[in-house]
Amino acid sequence: MGKFPTTSATATASATTGFKLVGYNNFVRANPRSDFFSVKRFHHVEFWCGDATNTSKRFSWGLGMPLVAKSDLSTGNSVHASYLLRAVNLQFLFTAPYSACISAPSSATIPSFSASTHHSFTSTHGLAVRAVGIEVQDAFSAFSMAVSRGAKPVSPPVVLGKNQAALAEVHLYGDVVLRLVSYSNSIETGPDCFLPGFEPVNHEMSYQELDYGIRRLDHAVGNVPELRPCVEYIKTFTGFHEFAEFTTEDVGTADSGLNSVVLANNDETVLLPLNEPVHGTKRKSQIQTYLEHNEGAGVQHLALVSEDIFRTLREMRKRSGVGGFEFMPSPPPTYYKNLKSRAGDVLTDEQIKECEELGILVDRDDQGTLLQIFTKPVGDRPTIFIEIIQRIGCMLKDEDGNVFQKGGCGGFGKGNFSELFKSIEEFEKMLEAKRVNEAAAA
Ligand SMILES: [Fe+2]
Repeated sequence: MGKFPTTSATATASATTGFKLVGYNNFVRANPRSDFFSVKRFHHVEFWCGDATNTSKRFSWGLGMPLVAKSDLSTGNSVHASYLLRAVNLQFLFTAPYSACISAPSSATIPSFSASTHHSFTSTHGLAVRAVGIEVQDAFSAFSMAVSRGAKPVSPPVVLGKNQAALAEVHLYGDVVLRLVSYSNSIETGPDCFLPGFEPVNHEMSYQELDYGIRRLDHAVGNVPELRPCVEYIKTFTGFHEFAEFTTEDVGTADSGLNSVVLANNDETVLLPLNEPVHGTKRKSQIQTYLEHNEGAGVQHLALVSEDIFRTLREMRKRSGVGGFEFMPSPPPTYYKNLKSRAGDVLTDEQIKECEELGILVDRDDQGTLLQIFTKPVGDRPTIFIEIIQRIGCMLKDEDGNVFQKGGCGGFGKGNFSELFKSIEEFEKMLEAKRVNEAAAA
């Protein structure tokens, strides 16, 4: 079982002022509800790619997310091709430019889109996340509040359609923007609504029943060269508070080399972890490797919540070799032998067996349990990857009596760094002992 935060901490990271990394054991979790503008939830994540048709279809098949809406030449948009995948509350948008020769700027449905910025973005980063979209109460006031507090403006607020929605962008980190989306009160934000100008796709173009159990975005993680300026920048213009943190020392292995801080909004529904590399470890920090291959800061992984991680993994693994996503190697059997003592009170023997069969990792914090697994990087470069998670525990009731799960329940998998390291060591010792015994018997 992982170490729990103590209340007898001697230091704490201030939620509203300067940033100070204090480590997992000294970090005291508190929610000052200090947001400067009203943030509702993650809205969508936009990938910029060379060809949106093919990239969106690969993610659709690999994750079980049907294509639900489009904005392209067929809908009158001659600037960019954009395709939207949706799995209940998770929305992925894939966007690529059309030729400048035929492009009529007023036909773009994402007003911030720029072909030249897209071109330099994709040639620098490869397939990568351009925008982390959040739904706010009012994109106009959120943008002006953020900018007045130091956010670097990228795209000023624009009204979309017949005043149905508004969109604005500020710089987040690297070449990634935080996209602010709001809807006017007069329209329903029903399942068919994304942004004005997008049209639903027909059944021939998409299999709407495609579903492997993925439901929403839990966290979007950024890798940055240096944590402090980035954390201070985001906190200063959003008011987000520090939700969790851990350092290389907490992780407890010589190889990991990272410090990490999680920022959250008032409702802790928008979780933005940030990692920085730590240098001088035996192996190069995985964060440093990312920064080199991505040519700078960017989104490292997107954690997607499944309502049934066993079903999601069975479906995803079936497709690994046929256009879906591959997973990181499973931990050695020793990891699962130790799992019974770590999580036997939460998972049945059968579930532990299923975790082993599917390569699922298990961690817990003081509040709940986290089941997690990571894909290999999704594109050519060892940069962005996907995490599939299921959180167990922390069920609460809101004022109307609706049951919901507290954000970040079970943590972010910190304990798995040391558990994996320990189990690999045990496994290697076991193999060594086996070799010695075989040699003696021969
Ligand atoms: Fe994660």
